[in-house]
Amino acid sequence: MNLPPDLDPQKIPQHIAVIMDGNGRWATSQGLPRIAGHRQGARTLKELLRCCKNWGIKALTAYAFSTENWQRPLEEVDFLMLLFERLLRRELAQMHQEGVKISCIGDLSALPQSLQTEIEHSMAETVNNQAIHFTLAVNYGSRNEITRACRQIAELVEQGQINAAQVNETLVEKHLYTADTLAPDLLIRTSGEMRLSNFLLWQMAYTEMYFTDIFWPDFDREALYQALLSYQKRDRRFGKVKPLLSA
Ligand code: IPE
Ligand code: IPE
Ligand code: MG
Repeated sequence: MNLPPDLDPQKIPQHIAVIMDGNGRWATSQGLPRIAGHRQGARTLKELLRCCKNWGIKALTAYAFSTENWQRPLEEVDFLMLLFERLLRRELAQMHQEGVKISCIGDLSALPQSLQTEIEHSMAETVNNQAIHFTLAVNYGSRNEITRACRQIAELVEQGQINAAQVNETLVEKHLYTADTLAPDLLIRTSGEMRLSNFLLWQMAYTEMYFTDIFWPDFDREALYQALLSYQKRDRRFGKVKPLLSA
């Protein structure tokens, strides 16, 4: 499973973020209950992680459950929580062996205790791994994250540890869940929706976006390849003017 020959190894994104959308519609299209889509979606994620690792991508961040997803039917929420727990428990040994460093971002304190325990265990076990950094966003919302950062910084000012003039972008970043990680180079959202749904709003200020109609459970290696082809054609200027090539 080497990098396809027409992809430039010099232009592989270091960090890919994915909004794994369309599990429910995938299931409905197959005449299955929505949860079957989530189950298949988890398999897709596992495969994608392995593929990213083999292709030299250093970080993958996957949006698994948003702060808004609590508004879904209780059975679906409960199923998802169980699925995350099972995924971590069943796949931990294999992921560890493959050098995956696991992180979770979001307000984890609201998750079932057994899931929190599984998350802590997975993170502690894999903390020194270096093949790929895999981050699962669970009960994650950017507005929640940024508000929390503001609150923490306000407390520092209140306690007199810093003054307001010292609040800068670096400090804000340090108080986000993603402190110490690089911003995503590429965002992939499946299922044809073209919105961010409260995902990594600060971090994706300069991320390249890729949208595909494919439902998440069908997002395979070929689909990732297409996303990378598109990414490699982008001209990332970061607000600058491209220097003129000398003749
Ligand atoms: C994404 O698929 C998975 C989660 C949000 C947990 P959806 O469940 O949103 O699938 P659709 O969008 O209803 O098809
Ligand atoms: C975004 O998908 C959240 C996750 C993929 C976890 P949603 O399906 O919840 O987003 P909306 O409701 O279509 O914006
Ligand atoms: Mg959806």
